[in-house]
Amino acid sequence: MTDWVKSGWRKKPRVQMPEYTDKAALNAVEAQLAKYPPLVFAGEARKLKRALGKAASGEAFLLQGGDCAESFAEFSADSIRDTFKVMLQMAMVLTYGAKVPVIKVGRMAGQFAKPRSADTETVGGVELPSYRGDIINGFEFTPEARIPDPARMLQAYTQAAASLNLVRAFSHGGYADVHQVHAWTLGFTEQDEAEKYRDLANRISDTLDFMQAAGVNQDTAHTLQSVDFYTSHEALLLEYEEALCRIDSTTGLPVAGSGHMLWIGDRTRQPDGAHVEFLRGVQNPIGLKCGPTITSGHLKVLMNKLNPKNEPGRLTLIARFGAGQVGDHLPRLIKAVKEEGANVVWSCDPMHGNTIKSSSGYKTRPFESVLREVHEFFSVHNAEGTVPGGVHFEMTGKDVTECTGGVRAVTDEDLSDRYHTACDPRLNASQALELAFLVAEELGGRRARTVQAAAV
Ligand code: PEP
Ligand code: CO
Repeated sequence: MTDWVKSGWRKKPRVQMPEYTDKAALNAVEAQLAKYPPLVFAGEARKLKRALGKAASGEAFLLQGGDCAESFAEFSADSIRDTFKVMLQMAMVLTYGAKVPVIKVGRMAGQFAKPRSADTETVGGVELPSYRGDIINGFEFTPEARIPDPARMLQAYTQAAASLNLVRAFSHGGYADVHQVHAWTLGFTEQDEAEKYRDLANRISDTLDFMQAAGVNQDTAHTLQSVDFYTSHEALLLEYEEALCRIDSTTGLPVAGSGHMLWIGDRTRQPDGAHVEFLRGVQNPIGLKCGPTITSGHLKVLMNKLNPKNEPGRLTLIARFGAGQVGDHLPRLIKAVKEEGANVVWSCDPMHGNTIKSSSGYKTRPFESVLREVHEFFSVHNAEGTVPGGVHFEMTGKDVTECTGGVRAVTDEDLSDRYHTACDPRLNASQALELAFLVAEELGGRRARTVQAAAV
């Protein structure tokens, strides 16, 4: 791309980004980050893009999930392990249902910057700038904490590097070996879906024993013993993204070094804005959040800007309309995609359109609405003859009480028990697994219909 430079976004209108007052401090941090090694490598981003290309055509399925906002305070090896473990469990359930490979992408190792609906927050008559994620300012409700501090970018980089190091170790060091399918259930002993998961794990172990006995797993041993686990985040803080952008020595093309997949939020997708300008130039797979306000015209312009060569796997459209609204918006966007002949992965984010304030005052998401949006997403794709290629969740491996409902119903009153998120409410491990079973059923049903149709 000859008309793109990594600093080109600076000339475009920017929204949702902090105004740093200490420019010298900002410049010093940017210079420091530019010298640090990239967190991910271009070859990995390209591998993910190829895998996503398969999801576009229904030969693979994307599972993307993790924190709404990673935080410095909640950072621990245990929480990374628990989220990783739930993702593996969910992937196992989905693979079994869909009979296609599941692409695992964490909202992790870089998911620190948050767009906000209001610039300020008022508590007890005191108005302060909004919290924008730990990479920008502090959560604490004091004037000092809310001042954007560029040094936070260095801490975010360090935390991302440590998280990635652990995830790479889990992925290839034996923990993700499919023979561990039973060990991943530890900690979920009493719930209904844990029972369902154990049944499935038994069937998988039986199959593995059979394969071993029949000598069919010789060549696949490596595949079964490790997983590809990728990272992703919203590319919101462009100073950080630009500083970690590198030239890939293999292709000579720019690559974002901060994460494998980056997405553009629903509030920062202005076709002539700074975020679209930056992301159009990097070769990573890109996500685009599509909420109710996106017009078909804008979507067409964005698809052409972000994926001018119509490369499969380059662009994932992440639909997030809210339960009851999918039928009003998804068909018109699918029509726009068909009219352009565009190659996209359709993914469903059933979280961001379903946030409400509970009667107890907490920001929450009713699990029923989350399930309903997923179901509507699949129904529309079935009706349109298009491919539902993935799902995108805010979730954690911890037993939090942030979203209401689920088999072990969390009530409005329970929310205060273990409400730990730094931003939006996440599904807990049990809700996440329950959701995976629902998605697996939807995918299994689809597969059965496809096979039947082929046989007629
Ligand atoms: C998010 O994914 O955390 C987010 C803010 O989403 P959206 O841009 O879809 O509102
Ligand atoms: Co969120």
